[in-house]
Amino acid sequence: MESRRRKGDGLSLASTLLMGMSCLFSAASVDTKAALSANPKYHHYREEYRRNLLANGLGLTPPMGWNSWNYFNCKIDEEIIKQTADALVSTGLAKLGYEYVNIDDCWAEIARDYKGNLVAKNSTFPSGIKALADYVHSKGLKLGIYSDAGYFTCSKTMPGSLGHEEQDAKTFVSWGIDYLKYDNCNEDGTKPTVRYPVMTRALIKAGRPIFFSLCEWGDLHPALWGAKVGNSWRTTNDIADNWNSMVSRADQNEVYAELARPGGWNDPDMLEVGNGGMTRNEYIVHFSIWSISKAPLLLGCDIRNMAKETMEIVSNKEVIAINQDPVGVQAKKVRALGDLEIWAGPLSGYRVALLLVNRGPWHNAITAHWDDIGIPEGSIVEARDVWEHKTLKTRFVQNLSATVESHSCKMYILKPVS
Ligand SMILES: *[C@@H]1O[C@H](CO)[C@@H](O)[C@H](O)[C@H]1NC(C)=O
Ligand SMILES: *[C@@H]1O[C@H](CO)[C@@H](O)[C@H](O)[C@H]1NC(C)=O
Repeated sequence: MESRRRKGDGLSLASTLLMGMSCLFSAASVDTKAALSANPKYHHYREEYRRNLLANGLGLTPPMGWNSWNYFNCKIDEEIIKQTADALVSTGLAKLGYEYVNIDDCWAEIARDYKGNLVAKNSTFPSGIKALADYVHSKGLKLGIYSDAGYFTCSKTMPGSLGHEEQDAKTFVSWGIDYLKYDNCNEDGTKPTVRYPVMTRALIKAGRPIFFSLCEWGDLHPALWGAKVGNSWRTTNDIADNWNSMVSRADQNEVYAELARPGGWNDPDMLEVGNGGMTRNEYIVHFSIWSISKAPLLLGCDIRNMAKETMEIVSNKEVIAINQDPVGVQAKKVRALGDLEIWAGPLSGYRVALLLVNRGPWHNAITAHWDDIGIPEGSIVEARDVWEHKTLKTRFVQNLSATVESHSCKMYILKPVS
């Protein structure tokens, strides 16, 4: 749960982007050599780590998992969390990479204990969070929790961590927490750039690598400073389970594409796939845009009761592989002809991920030209349709065209073959 406010878009984006770029290149002091040598595959990202205050080695690819908010809101308890962990394993989703089981707002008592510690809500989490973490870990999964850079969380049913950052970080570490979503409600009027790094430092000091998800809603362009503070940052207000909300989050998030990188991702909010407010094709567009945008893939439906159709969408290995590609470059909307959009971004092995989206009311042909999507002129290209699971027989030169239905998409991996 996050936003209560509407974001004005009157800020000069170009100038803040430039300011942000220069601050990204200022030095960070944390030595991450140990973390790097543990991940030899990612040595070429060492400069990115060096600039990162958090430097926890997490989020080399976008996080995958589940979060309780979109489906359950405040109505959560430890049984739901345990059953969700069980279901992630039994459905095979865990094997596909969905590893984080993230508790959102409403898990704690309104009052801290006599020592000032957060306390799990007795009526809904009677066994406590440590026991829950042990359970989730026993399934080979990771447990995420939620707090707020304010005096209360957005639901106002539990305290926030403002002024208690070190104590709460220690508590989370003592429970074995792996992921912290940190919201922005009921704050003291100071800037997020002041409040969020306090928790960053507290997490470093507490000594367990915890994925730090900044849920600042895009208020102060967190993409410009988030990489030094957290592993992901929300670029938008809360998503709702409808087409307009989904595509507007995609658009707001796309603006900051250049600022995403391994260890720090733009976050257009959690997935609504399976919650019932969009058609199958619209959910396919949702999942495709999130995937190609290197967004966190955090499922937001009831994993215990997933329709076959939902499962087919979120378990598409080829689409997940685009999201998890080690190159870690967020795709851009390289061209929009009215309602017809072309999204593209590089993948490992000189391949290109291409997404053709039709946002209009009628089916239409969409053509992607090589010079718009980063394929060298003259290349002959093989195309893999990742929703049809077919490599097309045609070899493409100069461009690729497809007819796309209303509120639908086509998604390809393009590979130059000569
Ligand atoms: C928690 O709730 C149970 C029953 O609902 C009660 O017996 C117990 O005393 C409560 N524990 C605390 C610490 O409040
Ligand atoms: C696409 O490329 C083909 C050659 O493969 C060319 O004949 C055609 O005119 C191009 N289409 C568009 C719309 O540019």
